[in-house]
Amino acid sequence: MANPTLLTISGSLRKGSYNRMLLAEAATVFGPATIDTGELNLPLYDGDLEAEKGVPESVQTLAKQVKNADAIVISSPEYNKGISGVLKNAFDWISRVEGMPFKGRPTVVMSANAGRTGGETGQFMVLSCLVPLQARVLHGPMLCVAAAGNEFDAEGKLTNDHYRKVLTGKMEALRAETG
Ligand SMILES: Cc1cc2nc3c(=O)[nH]c(=O)nc-3n(C[C@H](O)[C@H](O)[C@H](O)COP(=O)(O)O)c2cc1C
Repeated sequence: MANPTLLTISGSLRKGSYNRMLLAEAATVFGPATIDTGELNLPLYDGDLEAEKGVPESVQTLAKQVKNADAIVISSPEYNKGISGVLKNAFDWISRVEGMPFKGRPTVVMSANAGRTGGETGQFMVLSCLVPLQARVLHGPMLCVAAAGNEFDAEGKLTNDHYRKVLTGKMEALRAETG
């Protein structure tokens, strides 16, 4: 596909987030594409809110982005060795939208963290959560950027050759999924 739509989703809301930097690098490596960015600053999932007002507009927008994406890349920090709250909340809301938006979407997951393991434990939790959503997750070598504060330069470029190689492999595999 000449110009696929790549949706990037950060599990960190922080403007200076290393996961956002990693996603920007992923988008560059992915090649020519329309880049869409998922916004996870959503209301907390609440069954009463859903019963009274339905699925919020912001969730519907995100669900549409997921459904329209040719490829998805999620990068999230682990928080206390688990999935970030905003990412789990987004998954929970999206699971309430008709039509299983994630179903069959080619998806790559990665993480960047301050700690030594680069968020590996939390990343496994993200992968587990994608099972019931039926995303088409591309596995292979995991990309867990450890000590992330040391791995990006002032422009947000990933400086570590090993991580860049793994990122390139993942993005090539994702692009191949778009035909
Ligand atoms: C609530 C909270 C929990 C955290 N838990 C972990 C953790 O389990 N493992 C780890 O390596 N770093 C942990 N950190 C540090 C994060 O790796 C660090 O803040 C990182 O920069 C977050 O990603 P971001 O730059 O994309 O926002 C935690 C940070 C916060 C705020």
